[in-house]
Amino acid sequence: MAFPTETVYGLGARADRPEAVAKIFEAKRRPTFDPLIAHFPSAQAVREWAQMDARSERLAQCFWPGPLTIVLPRLHRGGVPRIPDLVTSGLDTVGVRVPDQPLALALLSDLEFPVAAPSANPFGYVSPTTAQHVREGLGEKVDFVLDGGPCLVGVESTIVDLTSKVARLLRPGGLPREALEEQLGQSLPWDGFRPPVTTEAPGMLESHYSPDVGVEVFESAAELTARAHELAGRCAILSPEGLDAPCLELVVLGQGTAMAVALFATLRRLDRMDTGKILALLPGTEGIGLAVRDRLFRAARSRLGAR
Ligand code: TXA
Ligand code: MG
Repeated sequence: MAFPTETVYGLGARADRPEAVAKIFEAKRRPTFDPLIAHFPSAQAVREWAQMDARSERLAQCFWPGPLTIVLPRLHRGGVPRIPDLVTSGLDTVGVRVPDQPLALALLSDLEFPVAAPSANPFGYVSPTTAQHVREGLGEKVDFVLDGGPCLVGVESTIVDLTSKVARLLRPGGLPREALEEQLGQSLPWDGFRPPVTTEAPGMLESHYSPDVGVEVFESAAELTARAHELAGRCAILSPEGLDAPCLELVVLGQGTAMAVALFATLRRLDRMDTGKILALLPGTEGIGLAVRDRLFRAARSRLGAR
């Protein structure tokens, strides 16, 4: 079933049953080399399935429930991993998180097993932030959608890998990187995004968070405006602040959490309109801006791959 979290809606199945987890991959048409996150009601519950240490205890204490996924070594019982290979893509580690959403927590608290859940969208498309988005994307492929209203964070969880001595940021997300850096006492570099370059091998391109309409990203309002003129205004514009450029629709996303909350729903809405292109002005890297930049880059990048 699909259920709400504070980040995006998840498509869940019991994490300890490969035959259940297989249905997630089937419904999403997701490749099995992409591991799933296991969701728990508390840090206490996590301890029975994954190996917590002082660092992860500290992050759990500070940020759970919340938009943080921690990659940890998985635990074994009687020589058998408690979280099966299908969830972890055969890795001996597992991504775990405690979502900050009342319905999700109520659901998870009632279960004696974790729930494996990727975002509840067809693989590669924009993640769902309402129950309606889930229905639009997965339709009959999902038995039940638990409707918790719109997600309050709007972008996926931040993923940090704690399986080696130096922690690594695997995905910027709803929890600002700065908050993690402060607690870990180390920097978490992120160079996962670069302006799209045509020489990149198409197979290497991330095909995530991508609407069907082409997305182009810009570092400055001047560059974006020039491109809008070139297109004679046949475009939609997505921007943190107001700007003066010809277009069919200008969406001012605002700053900080407001920007993240609106991002995916806006991409979906613009995708349904016939705007030709979406031109997006990138926010700065501070706070949740890093995650919004990342999602916009990926949306733009995968169009390049499709060309
Ligand atoms: O906010 C979220 O995290 C949402 C909600 C539903 O919780 N879930 C989500 O799941 O975004 P998904 O499947 O779209 O992203 C899971 C990603 C994988 O693509 C992979 O990058 C990382 O989590 N991941 C999971 N397990 C991992 C592991 N053992 N090692 C490294 N990366 C892992
Ligand atoms: Mg996803």
